[in-house]
Amino acid sequence: MINPFYQRARKCTATALRLKYSAYYDSFDKQAGSRVWQDGKEMIMLSSNDYLGLTHHPRVVEAAQKALEQWGASSTGARLANGSRSYHEALEEKLADFLGVEACHITISGYTGCMSAICGFAQRGDLVLADKNIHSSLWSGIALSGAKLERFSHNNPADLEEALAHESKDIAKMLVIEGIYSMEGHICPLPDFLEVARKHNCFTVLDDAHGLGVLGIEGRGTASHFGLSSKSLDITCGSFSKSLASTGGFIAGDQYLIEYMKSHARPAIFSAALSPAQVAAASTALDILQEEPEHLQKLWENVDRYNAILQDLKLDTWESQTPAIPIVLGSKDRAYFFWKALKEKGIFTIISVAPGVPPGKDLIRTAISARHTDEDFEKIEEALRYASKKI
Ligand SMILES: Cc1ncc(COP(=O)(O)O)c(C=O)c1O
Repeated sequence: MINPFYQRARKCTATALRLKYSAYYDSFDKQAGSRVWQDGKEMIMLSSNDYLGLTHHPRVVEAAQKALEQWGASSTGARLANGSRSYHEALEEKLADFLGVEACHITISGYTGCMSAICGFAQRGDLVLADKNIHSSLWSGIALSGAKLERFSHNNPADLEEALAHESKDIAKMLVIEGIYSMEGHICPLPDFLEVARKHNCFTVLDDAHGLGVLGIEGRGTASHFGLSSKSLDITCGSFSKSLASTGGFIAGDQYLIEYMKSHARPAIFSAALSPAQVAAASTALDILQEEPEHLQKLWENVDRYNAILQDLKLDTWESQTPAIPIVLGSKDRAYFFWKALKEKGIFTIISVAPGVPPGKDLIRTAISARHTDEDFEKIEEALRYASKKI
């Protein structure tokens, strides 16, 4: 008798389709600036989260090299046990200062950090209210918490209010939203959400993985974008794998909340500490955000330039307001042929189709970086014209 796990793996339609169309898990042989190489072919990377283009910044690379030499490749342990080092604590202090909150805890990945931001606080018997478009890490945190879940429609504070109207005053409530939704490029209407949250005594968790480095003064994130302090949120979490040119994640808020989370969030407690080189890269990127404003300025100039091209071609960008800019094509076939035509012309993007996106919103995810050059935009425009004719 065939083992059911093997049978499941052999019969999986999603995997068979993925392998047939070779649309995911692309691997590159080389990377430099905004370019990547695959089987010797040079392509412009148009879907990276390296928004500020800092992954090759000489200061970032040098800091990571030095940390590697000084501390070795890994701390080979969890923070709770033998893995904590002074460089973790230094970055935690720096990031808490940058966000204007009391404390911060850093984790091995953004996924672990964002999961922990929820399951470190919510528990069975609580109610979590979540925007229906939040990231997988947040859904995982909700599932692990055991709390009851109520979804509300995307970026819709009125719908949240409606959902809360039917709930008991006595139940502990958590609101989970993102600063920038990276598939749609939307910014959350944070002040409106906070008003509803305050009225209903909701503990608010904001995943600002894509807002950090991109929005607000010196890239301080979504709260800053709206002229608010991060203290208006209960918890901010996020990732170092976007603007901060590294990997790792964080959870930030009041000191006693972070200490409480460190006793309760299993993903943060039982995973290894972030490696020295990754901490050094993120820490230096954070300095660069404050000392070299030209990267953020260039990013937004590039976003304007790209949007002008997309508008000229009458492509649907789902009203993106940020450097994460989808091109909505409306069906799996159209998205596939558009994506393929761009790749043929040397432009690398990511395809996302239903059920990953709502039906009819099948899209190509593109993202702009401060590293994109004039020459890149000329090539991107030419490729987009070509792809538009192919569908
Ligand atoms: C909104 C959001 N939260 C969390 C994560 C997880 O971060 P990481 O990939 O650094 O683990 C991501 C990454 O895609 C994300 O987009």
